[in-house]
Amino acid sequence: MRTLDTDYLVIGSGIAGLMSALHLARHGRVMVVTKKARAESNTNYAQGGIACVMASEDSFEQHVQDTLDAGAGLCDEAVVREVVAAGPESIAELEAYGVEFTERLSGGEGPRYDLGREGGHSRRRVLHAGDITGREVESVLLGRAQAETAITFLEHAMAIDLITTGWIDSLSSRGSDCGEAGAGRENRCVGVYILDENTNEVLAVRSGATILATGGGGKVYLYTTNPDIATGDGVAMAWRAGLPIQNMEFIQFHPTCLFHPEARSFLISEAVRGEGAKLVHADGRPFMSKYDARGELAPRDIVARAIDHEMKLTGAPCVYLDIRGRSRRYLKKRFPNIYAKLLSLGLDMSKDLIPVVPAAHYFCGGVQAGVDGRTAMPGLYACGETACTGLHGANRLASNSLLEALVCARRMADGIVTRGEGAAPSLAIPPWESGAAVPSDEAIVVEHNWNEVRTCMWDYVGIVRSVKRLERAERRIRNLRCEIRQYYLDYLITSDILELRNIADVAELIIRSALSRKESRGLHNMLDYPAPSDALMGVNTIIQDPPGWRAW
Ligand code: FAD
Ligand code: SIN
Repeated sequence: MRTLDTDYLVIGSGIAGLMSALHLARHGRVMVVTKKARAESNTNYAQGGIACVMASEDSFEQHVQDTLDAGAGLCDEAVVREVVAAGPESIAELEAYGVEFTERLSGGEGPRYDLGREGGHSRRRVLHAGDITGREVESVLLGRAQAETAITFLEHAMAIDLITTGWIDSLSSRGSDCGEAGAGRENRCVGVYILDENTNEVLAVRSGATILATGGGGKVYLYTTNPDIATGDGVAMAWRAGLPIQNMEFIQFHPTCLFHPEARSFLISEAVRGEGAKLVHADGRPFMSKYDARGELAPRDIVARAIDHEMKLTGAPCVYLDIRGRSRRYLKKRFPNIYAKLLSLGLDMSKDLIPVVPAAHYFCGGVQAGVDGRTAMPGLYACGETACTGLHGANRLASNSLLEALVCARRMADGIVTRGEGAAPSLAIPPWESGAAVPSDEAIVVEHNWNEVRTCMWDYVGIVRSVKRLERAERRIRNLRCEIRQYYLDYLITSDILELRNIADVAELIIRSALSRKESRGLHNMLDYPAPSDALMGVNTIIQDPPGWRAW
């Protein structure tokens, strides 16, 4: 087995991974490992933009209050204040790298940016690059990272599991000659095993600091706005290594994913509602005022639940966005990507209603981590959507995710460097063992189980939950995990089986977290406990199990 060494190992090449790599490259060698083509990430599909206080009529305090309000009593206020206040310097940093945000057409007083508005924001404060903010950010950061000689990319390479000293020591205590005597040393992350799809080999990367920047896991659900990479790998790897996983019940469903057979995961940005779109039924009747005084611009949990309720009431397969009040010229300029996509499907958004449904969009929970990325395990860091820092609480405020990744990547890199954690350890890494595994002749099993996990989660662990449905889902997912485990042991690994194992692990984490929260709060809505519980105000859900590295 090949073992590669690096000072800093970054797993993932979205905004969190690339920003981390760029900061760390000033201090040592960085290896960025990413499982598909390097631009493929949730970041690349972000539309609305980055929330940041830029206007004189706005204030940090208002952004903080909007974030706390959306988070429904579960945000860590100190974290919110820190991230919000660091926004302008992070935006300046992005601009220094070359990111261009859309500016106002007219001159005069006020900020030079064309600030968008989204649900839950009391002010216009979303910086955007047309409606392809993520693509602009991803391509600029990638360009910069590729130009850095200290950064190496390993593309089409999928992290399988973390390598920890605790695990290596457990091998030697079980009499394996793969382990090293390390009695009494701290349990530390020293790297990761990787499936290199270019050569079809498993290799190890040994590093002084390992950063999980693997994004979210929308693919755990049948319907999602997320691209295929979003299989919750970082959360699953950290859980298997024994780390605490926080608030996994809070899955954000975006209210307006396009409902069209030829474009299953295409998002219609909340910014469209920010520019006046109404949510209506097929006959043009609006309904949001029944649910919240803020109407279409209420926080996402409220809007998604309202749509779900209306669809159940009417039996309709979708609702519609109506932005016909805006001119074609305006829409083409403000939303060029959405306009073109809809037109390619035969819909002119200046004349036609846009069919939409809620879909899984964002994980508010994840690997418990600080704003500085530190996790419970020395040597292991988490940043971006993989991490749960306390910023989002029970429901993320729109466009706060890219902001969080920017701020935390910088804080994390500074901390790693200050603590001098950047040299690959010299210990021997046990070779990857395939045991008696043979090439799979039953790919259909993976395909079947993949669909079963996602359908089960959509049907039983969706926007509205009940104890009965969650228990049913728990039984099914447990059975599926047993089958998947056997498959994992019997056959040589492929990226498909690794992703299936991860979505099933993450599904279990979501269900267990949801069952343990006996209340309704933010994105977690339980028929059996319809109200928030005072006793659970500010209480996070933590799941931490003993390491089950190879077993699960
Ligand atoms: P990602 O950008 O998802 O990057 C994860 C990276 O990790 C990818 O490169 C992936 O290939 C890699 N990876 C994953 N697993 C492995 C593995 N096992 N081995 C190796 N590599 C791995 N947020 C906002 O704030 N504003 C918005 O306007 C906005 N719009 C959005 C629109 C859409 C359609 C979607 C899906 C999300 C949107 N979000 C938005 C959310 C936001 O885009 C994400 O939360 C954010 O981009 C996450 O960044 P990240 O770097 O943590 O993860
Ligand atoms: C959107 O553009 O609606 C997505 C924004 C977000 O997820 O923050």
